[in-house]
Amino acid sequence: MTSLDTSALSRNATPGSEWWRSAVIYQIYPRSFADANGDGIGDLRGMTARLDSLATLGVDALWLSPFMVSPQKDAGYDVTDYCDVDPIFGTLADFDELLAAAHARGIRLIVDLVPNHSSDQHVWFQAALAAGPGSPERARYMFRDGKGQHGEQAPNNWESVFGGPAWTRITEADGTLGQWYLHIFDSSQPDFDWSNPEVQEEFRRILRFWLDRGVDGFRVDVAHGLVKADGLPDYFPRAAGDSMGGDTDDVPYWGQEGVHEIYRDWHKVLAEYDGDRALCGEAWLPTVEEMAKWVRPGEMQQTFNFGYLMSDWKPDTQRRIIAESIAAFSAVGAPSTWVLSNHDVVRHASRLALTAENPQGHGIGPDSPGKPIPELGLRRARAATALMLALPGSAYLYQGEELGLPEVIELPDDARQDPTWFRTHGERYGRDGCRVPIPWEADAPAYGFNTTGAAWLPQPPEWAELARDVQTTDAASTLAMYIEALRLRHAHDLGLGSVEWLDGYKRKVVAFRNGDVTVLTNFGKKPLELPEGARVVLSSEPLTGSAVPQDVTVWLTAAN
Ligand code: NOJ
Repeated sequence: MTSLDTSALSRNATPGSEWWRSAVIYQIYPRSFADANGDGIGDLRGMTARLDSLATLGVDALWLSPFMVSPQKDAGYDVTDYCDVDPIFGTLADFDELLAAAHARGIRLIVDLVPNHSSDQHVWFQAALAAGPGSPERARYMFRDGKGQHGEQAPNNWESVFGGPAWTRITEADGTLGQWYLHIFDSSQPDFDWSNPEVQEEFRRILRFWLDRGVDGFRVDVAHGLVKADGLPDYFPRAAGDSMGGDTDDVPYWGQEGVHEIYRDWHKVLAEYDGDRALCGEAWLPTVEEMAKWVRPGEMQQTFNFGYLMSDWKPDTQRRIIAESIAAFSAVGAPSTWVLSNHDVVRHASRLALTAENPQGHGIGPDSPGKPIPELGLRRARAATALMLALPGSAYLYQGEELGLPEVIELPDDARQDPTWFRTHGERYGRDGCRVPIPWEADAPAYGFNTTGAAWLPQPPEWAELARDVQTTDAASTLAMYIEALRLRHAHDLGLGSVEWLDGYKRKVVAFRNGDVTVLTNFGKKPLELPEGARVVLSSEPLTGSAVPQDVTVWLTAAN
């Protein structure tokens, strides 16, 4: 094991320190991170083998997307056994080893929990199909009779997030067409009925199972979707928009008041355990004020700030969302989180240079309008990351962004696996372009993802020059910038700091101070002269003179 400077991490590891207030949390998408057994799909042993590179990067915690038993219809977000590891990812023993190895390096680990729906292969759903209408087995899910004379119409007009209707009609055990079940996502992901105490108790058991193993918390999938409006009323969106809920309000399956009771209950379960366990909600809500409801005292510790993620790369927008986020979250005593990329959105090294509308989940492919210029996307991504990592609160990174990976646009149709692609008959490309296995070594099979060269999604040839080993020896690389930004963020305690806006700069410059660090992002064409006597400690691009060019972020301290 490489010897590591964990002094910064040990602060976060102090019991009672509320580590999640300032932590930098790195998302591992298990199937695409590192593949120890060479089958083309990443696994837990692959992660353990690559942990030192994450310690070198300087992250405080890991979030693992689902690795539980699943038929993989939605890449693991369709679970059949919440308390075991899918064989494609390894075993529970492999998980324990990973957790211990992460903790030994001062890195915490949170796991993904999927409580809105299970897989249709889950024993409960199979039992529900067999048991028939009105049974306690059906009462664990959202079964309803159809409308129309013969029940031939869906119970309401809701649409699946992945396209098509949110209801599927089943064939009853006697061979007749029967009831319908609700699936806000794919038809292989039936929604649980969270008003059922049996469902509530089962998830307390699942939480305790992972807490007993020592996890530091949970990322809660679709945290805003568990409770549906009484009577399941039809929903008529005011405008086509973000199907996860970020663009619209009053959606009868997002953000219902009753959902908060579930997290108040879970908060108490986590509080039974020592060591500051945390919940982070995945709740796409239209405003930061709505998001802040998830992190009121006695509820979750964190929630993803998707308002920030979806913000345009414009100075007024950036200033506004940062100010609004800090105000809204501070009002409930919580830190803001910051995130630019994850496994559901176009990678920010591409997204920030798109020139056409691209709603979340649609993805980009060969025929998409407004494709990004790669160099511009990367330049803006580096500037955006340097800006984000200077903000107080907790920041989420998505695997591969530290290499500046772009969205893979040219994936062949027959390689695509996202249910969105299938349910919209190719109308939406979906999310595969941000899920391609990441490159570790330029000259190795599958760029070091494994030793066999297999990869569940093809890696583009131009990724050789983005491989981690190439970037490790280049002081100007994206990786080098991330490592330095994280080192400075810890050294200057920026995660626990504050934002003090600075006057005296043009509107095209976002300028603030966090502690002893001044942060400037120049959005304007005109180069920004550095203030007299300032020392540049970080720059998102190498600087050639005394000016900050367009789409560059610098961190400054006073000279000496
Ligand atoms: C949100 C997850 O991030 C996404 O990947 C998944 O498809 C849906 N929830 C359904 O679980």
